[in-house]
Amino acid sequence: MNILGIETSCDETAAAVVKNGRTILSNVVASSLKEHTKYGGIIPEIASRHQLELINPIVDKACTKAHCTLKDIDAICVTKSPGLIGSLLVGLSFARALSFAIQRPLCEVDHIKAHLYANFLSLDNGKKPKANKKPKLPAIGLIVSGGHTSLYYIKNMHDYQLLGQTRDDAAGEAFDKVARILNLGYPGGPVIDKLARKGKNKTIQFKYADLPHTFDFSFSGVKTAVLYYTQQFKNKKHIPLEEIAYSFQESIVSILVKKSLEACKKKRVKTLVAGGGVAANSRLREKLTTKAKEHKINVHFPPLELCIDNAAMIAGYGYHHLT
Ligand code: KG4
Ligand code: ZN
Repeated sequence: MNILGIETSCDETAAAVVKNGRTILSNVVASSLKEHTKYGGIIPEIASRHQLELINPIVDKACTKAHCTLKDIDAICVTKSPGLIGSLLVGLSFARALSFAIQRPLCEVDHIKAHLYANFLSLDNGKKPKANKKPKLPAIGLIVSGGHTSLYYIKNMHDYQLLGQTRDDAAGEAFDKVARILNLGYPGGPVIDKLARKGKNKTIQFKYADLPHTFDFSFSGVKTAVLYYTQQFKNKKHIPLEEIAYSFQESIVSILVKKSLEACKKKRVKTLVAGGGVAANSRLREKLTTKAKEHKINVHFPPLELCIDNAAMIAGYGYHHLT
């Protein structure tokens, strides 16, 4: 079964063709990110206008790359929510119209749950499908993106139970806002990740909010702590950017790792899957893998290109809701 996936929840316009919910035949992503960087964040109106311009050529490109035409598509899956309303509308309207035109079923899926599904996909280079190990269910799902930070208990593809979520900023949002405080540009996650590698220290500490006995998160306090700490360097030439980046990142990563492992323990599961833009963070990947190993838990991270918003995860996750 060939499924065409369409994703337009934010600044990415993405289309993909996925076979039987697992093998990626094509995965095309365009982004209007450059248009937003000067504003320090995504401007919804600009994002939706770009979605309109890009949706047709991107869907065409996904079909061409998969060596198929619309006749070979058996169903369409599209992101329903959450996301920016204008951007979502472009993908949804396009998918509904296409489904009607080619007389194929349509499935509208949840973007967040689909992020975790990126771990169940297999990349196909056209010749040899690279069979990465499929995570075993039930599992705990950690979703960390620019808009969301949540922990799920995944019983099966139809049963996701929300255990906790952020009460204020999402983890990625905290990275972006701290980068803004430090004048590092947008998006902040990749820059902070890189700087932090050279900033190991024990002198600067930003305490994380524990919120004991819950699986909820709070990142706004850490962000404010960074703001107050940096104020002392206001009229100084040197600001220890690498050290601040390191300590901030350690704080975020520590609480993500702690709560994820606690959730595994509470639900007695031995599989942990991560997803979302912040799942690309090198320190999170390293620390979660090491700590999980100590508890004999198998951790799965999607390949970097599937951490960001993409349509392969939408097609793959939707497959289980069509069949
Ligand atoms: O999942 P995503 O592409 O979009 C949303 O659905 O939100 O995530 C984007 C977020 C941004 O906040 C960005 O700063 C963050 O992911 N991000 C990272 C890294 N790469 C992207 N955060 C930390 N470390 C990274 N390497
Ligand atoms: Zn996303």
